[in-house]
Order: sequence, then structure tokens, then C-alpha cells
Amino acid sequence: MAKVEASAPGKCILFGEHAVVFGQPAVAVAIEQRITVSLELLEEGTDEWRIDGMKLIPSKHPHVQALRSRLWQKKAGAPALSIHINGDIPPASGLGSSAALSVAASACLRAARGRWLSEGGEATETKHWAEGFSSQLTDTDVYSDVIEGKDPARRAGNNGQGDLHIWGNQAIDVDECALLGHAVEAIAQGGRASPMDSSVCAHGGIVLLSNEVVKETDWAYTRTLNTPEGDRTWQVHTIPVMADEQDVYLVIGNSGVHAPTSIQVAKVAAAMTENPQRMREIETIGLIARRGVEALLKGDFEAVGRAMSENHLMLRGLGVSCFELDNLVRAAAPSSLGAKLTGAGGGGCMVALTRNPKQTSEAIELAGGRTLISKIGNAGVRIEGHEGLPFWKPSSK
Ligand code: MEV
Repeated sequence: MAKVEASAPGKCILFGEHAVVFGQPAVAVAIEQRITVSLELLEEGTDEWRIDGMKLIPSKHPHVQALRSRLWQKKAGAPALSIHINGDIPPASGLGSSAALSVAASACLRAARGRWLSEGGEATETKHWAEGFSSQLTDTDVYSDVIEGKDPARRAGNNGQGDLHIWGNQAIDVDECALLGHAVEAIAQGGRASPMDSSVCAHGGIVLLSNEVVKETDWAYTRTLNTPEGDRTWQVHTIPVMADEQDVYLVIGNSGVHAPTSIQVAKVAAAMTENPQRMREIETIGLIARRGVEALLKGDFEAVGRAMSENHLMLRGLGVSCFELDNLVRAAAPSSLGAKLTGAGGGGCMVALTRNPKQTSEAIELAGGRTLISKIGNAGVRIEGHEGLPFWKPSSK
């Protein structure tokens, strides 16, 4: 049986959500909880995609549909697939379940489709790719929907097109998974999405986004997106996960209230358009995030916690918290170094940084939240297993 399975972690934002959409810095960490996606080939002659046994309805699964149009075009001969999604990241709760899904699904699709390289090419060298999306390739059209008659994944490598076909793990490029994840998040969020969730779900560890390159961290790449409010550029970095961090834990409290990210992001955008003075609040969140990053780099978790709590107050002011989240943040405060809502807010989750995970978790549960405990910084996207690859091989030229 032809099958491929990949998983990606969820994420938790320590500082800077919402402000990051306007180019301010933000930090997110990969959590222990993951989404696993598996793909199987359907019987020959079947044309209809399945998702968890049901017919795939594109409008209900915009992320899958957008990946399909970029990596798995029917007109290029791609076969229909059955997709299964599992995991322990609660959906629509600010923990990056949709980014983890998109990133894991793009890894599966790439592993199963493979990648054409130019003659004698190396998979690790994007200049040798005959197909694929990467921030290293300036001609990337990953953000546009399928262009009629053109395979958007196609480009000429250094030594010409498609002489060597590779698949499975060696065809995977983590940056490509992050880039595809961002493109499909942007579509699902009405054109406004930072590359925060997709980058951390792809790379794992700790990711810092900023409008400028930040020294003392590892700069990875630049991302640009044309949003309804104009072009935005982010510098994406990774921050080393320090051994000290093993003493501190994240306790995530789910309020159980559902609030779609796209609505929250649009609400903040509307508030800024209505009153441009409020951009100061976004800038203050940026200042707090910068302080948080310094503290994180020094391993000063008391200061990290303080920055998180201050960040929560600013998010409340922006109008993206809610009664339930504030209640859980208050309950966590006495036993933690700091606490705040995490993600888009309006519902979803809060997070507390703590040295007493049991005590903090109990306090949040008593206040009505469902908790998850995670260490800071976990592995990024990975292939969990495969057989019968490639599922399909687009023509090389
Ligand atoms: C959502 O997890 C984080 C937001 O900042 C949106 C984004 O960065 O795209 C609210």
C-alpha cells in the first residue's frame, strides 16, 4: 500500500501576536503536542479526495485545497488521495493546529510527489532544483493561486530541467514546508498572516520574527507578503533552546471559547484603520517583545515572564482578550513567572511560564480551563514513515 505520514508541532506565542502582522517582533515556541497527517493513494479510477473518510469539500478545508493546487495538480496527472489527520493540538485554539496541519501535509505531498533536480544536482542546493518553492528562489509564486496552464512548482535548475527524480525524506525541504504553510495560512486568513505559525511549526525550537535582522540569533530568511494594508516584510530567525530552559514549563490553558483567527486579525486591522493613533499600542507590544527576546537570550526567565504579563495587558487593551481568558490568566499568576493569552485571542488559549507546572495547571483547571503542559522548543516537521513512494511523478520537462 502506498502511504506517507508526517507530523508537525503546534506553537505557542510568548510575545508579539497581532503586532507581528504589522511588522513588530514576535517569539513563538514549538510545543510537545503535534498534528500527524497521513496520505494514502485511493484506488485507481477514483477521482474524489477523502478526508478522514468523508468527501473533501474544498471550502471546508481551504489549507488542503490550497496545497493541492500548488503541489498536486490533477491536470498534471496527480492521483486522488485519502487524508487522515490526528493529533493532540486542539483546533481553532491559538496553538497553530492549522499551520501544523499545512506544514505536515506539505511535507507528505512533497515526499509523495518527489522533486526533480537538474543533472547531478543536490537536493540541499535550491539552485539545482527543477521544481519547488523556497525563500532562496526569488521567482517563487507560492503566494499566487494556480496560474492556468502553468505548473507553479516548475522552474529551471542551474543545469536545465528535471534529470534526476528524488522522493521521500531527501525531497523534503523544511523552508519549503514553512513557505507553503505561510501561503496557505495567508489565504485562509483573508490575506493577513505573519509567517510566525508556519515557521515555528516547520522549524521547531524557538522562532523570532522581526522587521530587522536581530544579532545574537540565527537569521534564517526574509518573508514578504502583500496584505490588504500593504506589503509586509519579516526577518525570520531561530533562537537556540538553552539547557536552562528545561527548568521552566509552559502550561497552556484552553478557555474552550472558539474565535476564528481571521476575525480577530481583521478586528485589529479595522481598529488601526479607524484610529491610526492606536498604532502606538502595536509599537508598545513590539517594545515589550524586544525586552522579552533580550531576557530569553540571557536565560532570565523571571524577566521573560514579566514581559509576557505586560504583553497580556496590551492585548487586553487592543480588545482581543475575553472574560474567560482573563480569568485563566489571573488564576495562573500566583504560581507562575508570567501569563498571557496566546494566539489570536477572543477565546482559545492562554499560556503561563512556570517552574511549578503541576500547581499552575491545577489553578487553571480550577478556574475552568483545560490544560496542556509542554517544555519550550520541540522538534519541527518530520516524516514519520512511508512506503510505496513516489505516489506519482510529474513529467520532467
Ligand atoms: C495567530 O496565531 C497569531 C496572529 O498574530 C496572526 C498572525 O501572526 O498571522 C494573531
